[in-house]
Amino acid sequence: MERNMESLVQVKGLSVGFRVFEGLLRVLDGISLRIGQGERVGLVGETGCGKTTTVKSILKVLPQPPAVIFGGEVLFRGKDVLRMGRRAVHQLRRSSVAAIFQDPLQALNPVFTVGTQLSDIVRDWAAGTGKRLSKKEIFRRCVEALAQTGMPDPERIMTCYPIQLSGGMRQRVCIAEALVRPVELLLADEPTTNLDVTIQDQILRKLDELVEEKGMSILLITHSLGVVMDLTERVYIMYAGTIVEEGKTEELFTNPKHPYTQGLLKSIPKLTGEGISQGIPGRIPNYLHPPSGCRFHPRCEHVMPICTQQKPPLTESEGVACHLYRGDVR
Ligand SMILES: Nc1ncnc2c1ncn2[C@@H]1O[C@H](COP(=O)(O)OP(=O)(O)OP(=O)(O)O)[C@@H](O)[C@H]1O
Ligand code: SF4
Ligand SMILES: [Mg+2]
Repeated sequence: MERNMESLVQVKGLSVGFRVFEGLLRVLDGISLRIGQGERVGLVGETGCGKTTTVKSILKVLPQPPAVIFGGEVLFRGKDVLRMGRRAVHQLRRSSVAAIFQDPLQALNPVFTVGTQLSDIVRDWAAGTGKRLSKKEIFRRCVEALAQTGMPDPERIMTCYPIQLSGGMRQRVCIAEALVRPVELLLADEPTTNLDVTIQDQILRKLDELVEEKGMSILLITHSLGVVMDLTERVYIMYAGTIVEEGKTEELFTNPKHPYTQGLLKSIPKLTGEGISQGIPGRIPNYLHPPSGCRFHPRCEHVMPICTQQKPPLTESEGVACHLYRGDVR
C-alpha cells in the first residue's frame, strides 16, 4: 500500500547512557531514525544493543538517574518529547502513542481486573480529548478491543484478574490496552517473546491487521527476522547502540551491505541469548569502554585503520554506516 510518509517521529542524534557502580555505560551513541505516518518500521539487533532503551526514550519513560541523556532529540510531529513537560508527555501517551512490552505480567496491574484497567485507559483518553463517554459506552469499547485481539469470551475476561489468564490471553490484554483508544503510533517491543511460537505468530498477525485497519504507524522490535520480513516495510539494524544500516526491508534483507547485517542474516531465524556466533564471532562490546571509531571494528573481518579512529556516519544515499562504502576514505 502507498503511504503518506510524512514523518511522525524523528529521532536525531540521540545519545543515552546509564550510571552504574563501575562508571558510565555509554549505550546509545547518536542514533537517528524516523517513522513515517502509517509506516511499519522494524528495529533489529542482538540482545543488549539498545532497542528497549530507544523505545523508552521515545516514550520518555527512562528513569533519570540511572539514565543520562547526553544529547539528541525525539521529535513527535516536530515537538521534542525529551523537552516536554510532564503534562504534555502524559497527553502524548494517553492519546497519541501506545506501547506493548515484552512481559505482560509486568505491564498489567495484578490488583485490578482487566475491565478496570482497560476502562481507566479509555476514560483517561476521553478526558484528554474532552469527550464524555457513558459507562456503557466505555464497557462496549473495552469489550470490542478485547474481541479484536481474538480473545475468547471478552465479556467474561473483563471481570478477570491478570493472574487468572494464560500467557497468550495476557498478551492479548496488553494489545487491547494499546489499541483500546485511537493512537497514531504503536511501539511494540518484542510483544510476543514469552509465548510459544504458534501463538506468537497468531498474535503478531492479529496486531498487524489491527495496525493496518487503524492506519497507525508501528515500530516493531522482534528477535524473529522472519517476522520483520513479513510485517515491516522498512528496517533499522542496530549494533551496540548505533544504527548501522537502514533500508526497505526486502531490499536490505536481499542485499545487506554492512558486515554486521551480513553476519546477522546468516544467523536467521533467532538472535536471542547465545549471540550471533554462527554469523560473526565475538560478542557485543562492553558499554563502559566501547570501541573507538566503528563500534563493530573488533568483530569485523574488513576492518581498516580508519575504522578504529573515525565513527562512520549513516549515509542518506547508501543507508549504511561503514567506511567500506565511503569512496573518499578507501
Ligand atoms: N536501567 C539500566 N541500568 C543500567 N544499564 C541498563 C539499564 N537499562 C539498560 N541498560 C543497559 O543498556 C544496554 C541496552 O539495553 P536494552 O534493554 O536497551 O537492550 P535491548 O536491545 O532491548 O536488548 P534485548 O534484546 O535483550 O531486549 C544493555 O547493556 C543494558 O544492560
Ligand atoms: S566501518 Fe570498518 S570496522 Fe566498521 S563495519 Fe565497516 S569495515 Fe567493518
Ligand atoms: Mg529489549
